[in-house]
Amino acid sequence: MSGLYIHVPFCRQKCHYCDFASFACKEDLIDSYLCCLDREASFFPHQSFNTLYIGGGTPSILSVNQLDVLCEIISRRFAPINTFAESTIEANPESLSLEKLKLLKQRGVNRLSLGLQSMNDEVLRYIGRVHDTKTFLSAYEQARKAGFENISIDLIAGLPNQSEEDFLQGLKKVLALDPQHLSVYGLQVEEGTPFYRQGIQTDDVFLRRELEQIHFVLKDAGFVHYEISNFARSGYESKHNLSYWQNKEYLGLGSAAASFQKGERRSNTADLAEYLRRMRYGVSAVEFSEKLTGKAKEGEQIMLGLRMLGGVKLSPSQKTLFAAEIEDICKRGLVSLEGDLLKLTFEGMFLANQAFMAFVGPFDV
Ligand SMILES: C[S@@+](CC[C@H](N)C(=O)[O-])C[C@H]1O[C@@H](n2cnc3c(N)ncnc32)[C@H](O)[C@@H]1O
Ligand code: SF4
Repeated sequence: MSGLYIHVPFCRQKCHYCDFASFACKEDLIDSYLCCLDREASFFPHQSFNTLYIGGGTPSILSVNQLDVLCEIISRRFAPINTFAESTIEANPESLSLEKLKLLKQRGVNRLSLGLQSMNDEVLRYIGRVHDTKTFLSAYEQARKAGFENISIDLIAGLPNQSEEDFLQGLKKVLALDPQHLSVYGLQVEEGTPFYRQGIQTDDVFLRRELEQIHFVLKDAGFVHYEISNFARSGYESKHNLSYWQNKEYLGLGSAAASFQKGERRSNTADLAEYLRRMRYGVSAVEFSEKLTGKAKEGEQIMLGLRMLGGVKLSPSQKTLFAAEIEDICKRGLVSLEGDLLKLTFEGMFLANQAFMAFVGPFDV
């Protein structure tokens, strides 16, 4: 069983830290984009999926009617949304409405991932968010009213102009809302973003301390820290995202969407105009594909699995192939190996990229 991902590359405004494949002020292209998604879906008939994830960008920027069209495409081309074991839509507070939420719920979407990033209005303005905390609280309340019982909230730690105390106070306000799931990412300053151009840098010591505090606060509040950046009430771990880390297959539709099927990783062009053009001509949007083999393939699987804090079970051949690398990162205190189970240590959780390097090629075999 596998996952279906649909990318919606539209945003009201570009946040100053974001380098995701999304564009501001292109809402006039949404209707054509939906037709193109329908065309692309027709290239993959008779596929069945366990989970659905509509991500972006900002899927909630679509109007009620456009959301309905998107749901109809998914239902017609694949399966009614209420038949997926989990179906998530990403949303931004400023573009949600009770009407949109009710439509999504009625269509069978059963999980909402709401982007908040910070519970401080000044910080939100500084990082280029369109919404304030009041708008977020109202969107959250409306989502509950519409019947969403599984809500995840995204936050970013280590943002400029936000102290650790302020972040933790905000986190406690978020916890008072009783969400089922939280994603807390450490800020990454990516080339090409306004943050990068402004010379903003992450403070690794500060971020490490803040992430450690977040881990303990959320653990005390009863959340399972199940992946480096993800926390859930027991039973509410994201099924769709877990399938990525478990190296299961998925199909991605839309500009910049990635897929993994039959051992091959593919990604579509991130150029929106090019995506639309290719779909109008009925040709594939794939811009990159590769099929890893040998040690690189095994390394990728271990690296993905290691993101889960429960660890990854190694096959006998993986243990042999990576014996030297694993010994090295064990000695450095980044991972532990008990039997076949390779796990990040508490320290390794904050230095995971260093552990991952052991599993990245090039390799000779
Ligand atoms: C696909 S993105 C955006 C979803 C949605 N449009 C929003 O803004 O809430 C998913 C999440 O990635 C995180 N994110 C994006 N850029 C980031 C960065 N540079 N550093 C850390 N986290 C980032 C944010 O928490 C964001 O909510
Ligand atoms: S963080 Fe979300 S809203 Fe902001 S630009 Fe990125 S995708 Fe768009």
